Amino acid sequence: MKLGVPKETAAGERRVSLTPEVAGRLVKSGLVVVVERGAGEAASFGDDAFRAAGATASASVGDVFEQSDVVLKVQPPSVEEARRLREGSALVAVFQPAAEKESISQLAARKVTAFSLALLPRITRAQAMDVLSSQATVAGYKAVLLAAAATGRFFPMLVTAAGTVAPARVVVLGAGVAGLQAIATARRLGAVVSAFDVRPAVKEQVESLGAKFLEMDIGEHAETAGGYAKELSEETHRRELAFIAQQLKDADVVVTTAAIPGKRAPILITAEAVRGMKLGAVIVDLAVETGGNCELARPGEDVLEHGVRILGPLNLPSTMPYHASQMYARNISTFVSHVVKDGALRLDFADEIIRDTCVTHAGEVRKP
Ligand code: NAI
Repeated sequence: MKLGVPKETAAGERRVSLTPEVAGRLVKSGLVVVVERGAGEAASFGDDAFRAAGATASASVGDVFEQSDVVLKVQPPSVEEARRLREGSALVAVFQPAAEKESISQLAARKVTAFSLALLPRITRAQAMDVLSSQATVAGYKAVLLAAAATGRFFPMLVTAAGTVAPARVVVLGAGVAGLQAIATARRLGAVVSAFDVRPAVKEQVESLGAKFLEMDIGEHAETAGGYAKELSEETHRRELAFIAQQLKDADVVVTTAAIPGKRAPILITAEAVRGMKLGAVIVDLAVETGGNCELARPGEDVLEHGVRILGPLNLPSTMPYHASQMYARNISTFVSHVVKDGALRLDFADEIIRDTCVTHAGEVRKP
């Protein structure tokens, strides 16, 4: 069986779906790995390293799409890429079916078996394949570095001959995977960190990282059976906004990560709350791609409002392509090992992992 690794074509994307280390392991397991020329270069993985691992690394984009049995990608396939896939082949990438309608109808028309790792169930068995978690870890870490570079303050407390410097006060809103990594990173840099989330289960995790959990009486059950946050009622959301505005008054840095699966991100910081913040404070809104947690954040922009800098970075994992690709490659290869047995695709739709991630198969769109 031939696995194909194309160079990512989406604007600004520097990650690659396999690294030489992981490609080498797949080759040892008996699979053939074909990598498009220069596919890993932007992530610092040269063709020579792929060759040394036993992969073919001088393929053209046509070779990869037209000859592979399974194409491994990071970004959703473009319509043109979907059209190029060999009929009956397979594709693994990360996409929300609703946002990629045209590509999906192409994939179905080509009878491609397409899997989206964005749909992976959050179950223990799937943890090693969980690209959303690995890439959220990268984003949470990088968000804090961006904030540290944008603030005019030190993060740690310093005792120097020029006097004592107070540590920065960092607030993290939303303590899922990205938020917990943001807390850990800000703590490592020496900041005083507090965090808020609507899921009470998070308190212990926040405290175990040395941060303070900001407690608000939510007064309703804000968690689904699957462990995700639910949308709050209008009244509770109004109380939440007031609570957060109060907490942000003396913050130097705020990192927001709150999300509700399949919905617009909740607004947590209003323009009014920004007006109440300190001059020179920095907000990094990680939810900007799904609508933003801060009313004033703009996708891909760095805006200054009421003396507060608000960053809305896009695709942060791509800004750390080496490690983001390393984690992604390990996740996707675990998934490949799950669906490929003895050199062929084995699709057991009774298996939750396969059932949830399979978007098209045998000409049919399984996730409308
Ligand atoms: P996410 O990206 O969907 O959301 C980020 C955070 O925002 C969540 O912690 C959520 O509670 C919070 N949030 C939502 N609305 C909010 C609001 N109005 N105010 C404040 N915070 C709000 O979450 P992520 O990081 O994908 O994790 C979601 C859950 O899945 C967690 O319970 C996590 O532990 C669990 N998980 C389980 C895995 C597994 O077992 N394989 C793997 C990864 C995550």
